[in-house]
Amino acid sequence: MTITNQDELDGLKDIGRIVANTMQAMAKALEPGMTTGELDGIGRTLLDREGAVPAPQSTYGFPGATCISVNEEIAHGIPGGRVIAAGDLVNIDVSASKNGYFADTGATYRIAPVRPALDRLCRDGRRAMQIGIAQVGSGRPLAGIGRAIGRFAAGRGYTLIRNLASHGVGRSLHEYPEDIPTWPSRTEKRRIDKGLVLTVEPFLSAGGLWATEGDDGWTLYSQPPAPVVQYEHTVVATDRGAIVITLPG
Ligand code: CO
Ligand code: CO
Repeated sequence: MTITNQDELDGLKDIGRIVANTMQAMAKALEPGMTTGELDGIGRTLLDREGAVPAPQSTYGFPGATCISVNEEIAHGIPGGRVIAAGDLVNIDVSASKNGYFADTGATYRIAPVRPALDRLCRDGRRAMQIGIAQVGSGRPLAGIGRAIGRFAAGRGYTLIRNLASHGVGRSLHEYPEDIPTWPSRTEKRRIDKGLVLTVEPFLSAGGLWATEGDDGWTLYSQPPAPVVQYEHTVVATDRGAIVITLPG
């Protein structure tokens, strides 16, 4: 959606705060021995208490309130009986709607003890997102996001998953502009309209190049197999750069 007035911004900020608080509470609850289904239950309860509706479920019939992806799973992991263990990388992605507004956020967390290389990957994954967000502003090229992230990733010897794009959001979970590349793209010619609501969610990896779907029809895996992290905010483009919508508060 494109924000045109304060009411719309307030509605979006409300659901942005809710998904961010939900993800933060789930991250705090993370510990070895719990199942991804238990973790999802915490998220579902919090969203419900705020009057928010899980978007993957309402939009696509996803079998969970949140997407929880562990280690070799890189996105759209189905919460269930999998037990979280020491050393795991756990991605939590929370998207939900309230009063007709949608917001989407995600982050990858480490369960101690984690190898130093994975610590670095997580830290740089968050930086990659921030570098992309810094390219958001009224009238700027959408391709600037992927260009900046690509430069950062290449400079540190990382790869980017090239078929998991960012997207417009706000009145639905995925809307115009679809398929925003978070990698360098010669074919991306669109510009960022003033007030545009979009996600910035690069998938930074130590070798992964694309995502493939598993047998369950949801879970995505890296090809070639490699560690992958994802950090995601929903932002609004303004004349003064991006406003981050998915902040806890
Ligand atoms: Co997401
Ligand atoms: Co998203």
